[in-house]
Amino acid sequence: MIEEVSNYLNQVRHDFSKAKLDEENVDENPIEQYAKWFEEAVGAQVLDPKAIVISTVSADGQPHSRVVYNRGLKPTGMVFYTNYHSNKGRELEGNQHISILSYWPELERQIRMEGKVEQLPAEESDAYFASRPRESQIGAWASNQSEELTNREVLEEKVKSFTAKFEGQDVPRPLHWGGYLFVPHRVEFWQGRPSRLHDRIVYEKQTDETWTKKRLSP
Ligand SMILES: Cc1cc2nc3c(=O)[nH]c(=O)nc-3n(C[C@H](O)[C@H](O)[C@H](O)COP(=O)(O)O)c2cc1C
Repeated sequence: MIEEVSNYLNQVRHDFSKAKLDEENVDENPIEQYAKWFEEAVGAQVLDPKAIVISTVSADGQPHSRVVYNRGLKPTGMVFYTNYHSNKGRELEGNQHISILSYWPELERQIRMEGKVEQLPAEESDAYFASRPRESQIGAWASNQSEELTNREVLEEKVKSFTAKFEGQDVPRPLHWGGYLFVPHRVEFWQGRPSRLHDRIVYEKQTDETWTKKRLSP
């Protein structure tokens, strides 16, 4: 099986031809540009454009990547929510530098971002938590994210127990669950082009308000 898949992998080819990217047609601000591409991704029915890969680095220098959901844009960056005690939460305590990746194959587009995270103010996490479905709220209490579970029943029992505990009342936000604001200082937009001659435009932050942009070789 491995050999067949490997044969397939080194033979299959895909040429990119859907669009192009010009320095003149991109926004001066990469968050605005991201918002523009995001709208186009929704319009093109990209399966799950809010899914982003975030990569954190642990104290031993090992990078760790996983998907989370982009839950908001601000003029300075992007918001996601998680368990502050999870592996990623602990890694972010020690090292706030992360990278974020989006790949939207339906549009032949990749977006790479590098920057730093800060925890959102508690009131913002409270407001978002309160908007989540009750089952997800209970789940945030029941799951010690990233910790070993003896079996699934243990998790399901915890869900039952927190469901009973909070019956008849609003589920409060666990203090170990909340948001991060990711503030990028470098953002690259990649548009696939024929013959691997792709367009790459990278933004670098100069001040809080200003960015420079340049084209990179594919
Ligand atoms: C489509 C998708 C969306 C996800 N969204 C989130 C999310 O918003 N927050 C989160 O903590 N984990 C999310 N996860 C789960 C993470 O990928 C990961 O399994 C979890 O956060 C534990 O990661 P860690 O052990 O490195 O901390 C999502 C996974 C997928 C596949």
